This record gives sequence, structure tokens and C-alpha cells, in this order.
Amino acid sequence: MYDFTPPSAADKAECYAQLAEATAALVDGEPDAVANMANIAALIWQFVPDLNWAGFYRTIGEELVLGPFIGKPACIRIPFGRGVCGAAAVTAATQRVEDVHAFPGHIACDAASRSELVVPVLRDGRVIAVIDLDSPLPARFDAQDAAGIEALAALIAAHI
Ligand code: SME
Repeated sequence: MYDFTPPSAADKAECYAQLAEATAALVDGEPDAVANMANIAALIWQFVPDLNWAGFYRTIGEELVLGPFIGKPACIRIPFGRGVCGAAAVTAATQRVEDVHAFPGHIACDAASRSELVVPVLRDGRVIAVIDLDSPLPARFDAQDAAGIEALAALIAAHI
């Protein structure tokens, strides 16, 4: 059994430091990408408060395909350039969206979502996946959240 206890949500830096530590421990020595993405999605869900969706889309050809996640069933295929995830994939840059209704082309998978953070996972300079977090709270994600998930993306790039 793995029993990770997240610290108080008030201390965001500590939350992301411990999320990284727990992730490193879980993926260590495990070569299966699906198992690792499933556990990482579960850890994000446990350590990052106020989410309604957390998970992965993987680059397959010229589109993103749904990977392991926690939340409501989501759209399966997203072409590069479409929605927030597609923008992250095509630009290889983090997308932090304070109001999803104001983002042109946002793809609504859960009507409850109000804000979104999508971070590309890069391996050898190529976007191999994106980490997608949705929140029912407007402007839920700040620069510290982006930095925390970017650090996580760098940590897992060789394990997914
Ligand atoms: N909102 C995303 C689609 C994926 S779901 O949020 C899980 C987008 O616009 O790319």
C-alpha cells in the first residue's frame, strides 16, 4: 500500500515539493508508462486541491489521445492546435487559463470546469504528452501551480 499524506493545502510550495517526492518514489524502477501515468494522476488529485479533472493526453501522430486521468469521462482525441490542450501541444508551452469560457476553442469535457492548467511534457525536445488540470474555481491556477506542474513534467518525462 502507498500512503502519501499531502501537507496543508495552504503551503503550496511544500505541496508541490512533496508531490514531486512522492512521484519520484512511485515511478522509480517502473518502466510501464500507463501504470506511471495512472499513479501520477492519482497523486496530483491527492496533492492539488480544488480539481475536477486531472490527467494526461498523449501525442499520437498529429493529435492528442486521452490517457490515464481522474474525473469525468473526457473527449478522446484532440487535434494539435485545438482547445487548451492542443495549444499546449503545438506551442510546447504551458497554458494557464483563468476563465475557460473566454478561451477561443476551449473544449468543455465537464461543464463544471472554470479554469485550466495544461503543461507539456517534453522528451528530446518533442511534446510527448500534456498534463491537464481542470478546476471548478475561476482563476484557480497561479504561477506557482504552473511551476510546480512544470517541475513534475520534467521529472516524469523519462517514465511515461
Ligand atoms: N478542456 C480541454 C479538453 C480536455 S478536458 O478539459 C479533460 C481543452 O480545451 O483542450
